[in-house]
Amino acid sequence: MKYFTTVVSTLASVGFVRAHVAAFTKGMYCLNGTEPGVENLNTNSVVNPLFQLPKNQWWMQHDRGCDSEQVAPSPGDFLELPAGGSFTVELASNRAQSTLSYDGKFTSEWPDGKDHPEDWHSPSPDTCLNANPDQAGGAMHTRNESTAAGTAFAISYNSDLSKVTMENLVVFTVLEQYVLRRDE
Ligand SMILES: *[C@@H]1O[C@H](CO)[C@@H](O)[C@H](O)[C@H]1NC(C)=O
Ligand SMILES: *[C@@H]1O[C@H](CO)[C@@H](O)[C@H](O)[C@H]1NC(C)=O
Repeated sequence: MKYFTTVVSTLASVGFVRAHVAAFTKGMYCLNGTEPGVENLNTNSVVNPLFQLPKNQWWMQHDRGCDSEQVAPSPGDFLELPAGGSFTVELASNRAQSTLSYDGKFTSEWPDGKDHPEDWHSPSPDTCLNANPDQAGGAMHTRNESTAAGTAFAISYNSDLSKVTMENLVVFTVLEQYVLRRDE
């Protein structure tokens, strides 16, 4: 499964991921995309790369407005992080490829919602997945599962997003090589 499930060692409220694959969950900012009041089932707002931007633009995805209270989670929508427990989010390249859209009919075991071989890998050691004839998987910038990037979740004991800083965020769980299929 492409779900991220992990043991939580503490309790808190802010998580973030940066890649061409993002963690989708009700409790996230920009779940509906960036237009307040409009539900975009096909949004990749939180997935688009943060590239060549000053910190005040990339921090909390300010460049696309995902730090705005106008695109905050609906009241009552939280990602619960029970102390000592586990939580699950869906790693996908687009909300459409998660169960949060279209009854999950565009999901698969992979973040792009397509089917791929168990040992999906690039044709040669110096190329990425998208060098294969189907050209798929380019967003992951990897050769295979063992060279794929990981995910980290961090928490900050602040309920005001603007008070969250690099200094008061603490990483509480990581998953190596999240972008490809989970092994479990
Ligand atoms: C997303 O859109 C749906 C449908 O309009 C709405 O019920 C929900 O509250 C919206 N969620 C957010 C976080 O804006
Ligand atoms: C993944 O790719 C790296 C780099 O090319 C290679 O060293 C490694 O053996 C590959 N792993 C698998 C499981 O194929």
